[in-house]
Amino acid sequence: MRGGGAADGGPRSGPPCGLLEADVSGPDRIPPGAVPALELRGLGKRFHLRSGGILRRRVTELRAVADVDLVLPRGGILGLVGESGSGKSTTGLMALRLLEPSEGQILIEGTDVTALGHAALKPWRRRVQVVFQDSYSALDPMFTLAQVVAEPLRIHGIGDGASRHRAALDWLERVGLHRSYGSRYAHELSGGQRQRVAIARALILEPAVLIADEPTSALDVSVKAQIINLLQDLQAEMDLSILFISHDLSVVRSLCDRVAVMFSGRIVEEAPTEAIFTSARHPYTRALLDAIPVLDPRQRRRRTFRDRAEIARDVPVLRRGEVTGPVPEGAGPRLMPIGPDHRVAAVLEGEAA
Ligand SMILES: Nc1ncnc2c1ncn2[C@@H]1O[C@H](COP(=O)(O)OP(=O)(O)OP(=O)(O)O)[C@@H](O)[C@H]1O
Ligand SMILES: [Mg+2]
Repeated sequence: MRGGGAADGGPRSGPPCGLLEADVSGPDRIPPGAVPALELRGLGKRFHLRSGGILRRRVTELRAVADVDLVLPRGGILGLVGESGSGKSTTGLMALRLLEPSEGQILIEGTDVTALGHAALKPWRRRVQVVFQDSYSALDPMFTLAQVVAEPLRIHGIGDGASRHRAALDWLERVGLHRSYGSRYAHELSGGQRQRVAIARALILEPAVLIADEPTSALDVSVKAQIINLLQDLQAEMDLSILFISHDLSVVRSLCDRVAVMFSGRIVEEAPTEAIFTSARHPYTRALLDAIPVLDPRQRRRRTFRDRAEIARDVPVLRRGEVTGPVPEGAGPRLMPIGPDHRVAAVLEGEAA
């Protein structure tokens, strides 16, 4: 696990303003390592899509996410990868309780928040924050950046106007922007600077979990690297847990401890990052890895891009001896343990896929 409890006494460590130390009205702080920061159990989402006119109205059900079990340990960075439409953002939005799950549970620091109503949920909302790809729409153009960054403190009734303003300027500095940016507006910033502001706004409440949904996808290569470095530093300083949603497998490889691969709304493989890159077992994971651009022509292979339907049919079949833990009950493809912390959606030899 990266960065567990790092940066003691570092120049940027600790709360920026002491506001939260004095004013923890939310859930009790949990001792490090005791429970996962975030856990998703059997999470699913069905959308009902309406088509046709008044007379021939049809409703079709889209199972966007199904049976997602994920554990994000405290201080861990879990990558969630998969093609467009595979259900990554839907999973992230459900973890934030911005989208109601159709089934399953969401646990934040060990507490089941799935069914909590608005008031009971509020302290937990502080513990899980988000940064999206498109931060421009999230940053109110009418507000100064100091107001934008301080707004979560205001919403949660923390501090007074002056202390919130100071905290916002401290956070602008902490994400690498000069304090004078506090009086500027979002439209004056570059894409990379806007992502820094979005990160400051997400972290000012000192959440346990940051959901980062494609936070670097709109940035060019050098700015992307800066934002990844910033996230890495802040993660270590704050012992933050990050669910990092991305298409970009090279970024995932450099940032994440573990990777979960989604295909058609389901997790098909999950393992420590290196195991995903060196010993992927699921054909879809392999297809994703094969799609990473290779710049060195000597290393370029003839690539055969496989059809999704073909991949869906090509369920891995495991011999009993390959399964390293209890075989989950049920029929059809299910996540089976095949190595240290490595699970793959597969069937057993002799079973029908
Ligand atoms: N509000 C909605 N109503 C109906 N269908 C939706 C809704 N939100 C998402 N979907 C569908 O659910 C599926 C999963 O979408 P989702 O946005 O989670 O994918 P994603 O993996 O984040 O894709 P991308 O990489 O393009 O961001 C898609 O088929 C999408 O069209
Ligand atoms: Mg998405």
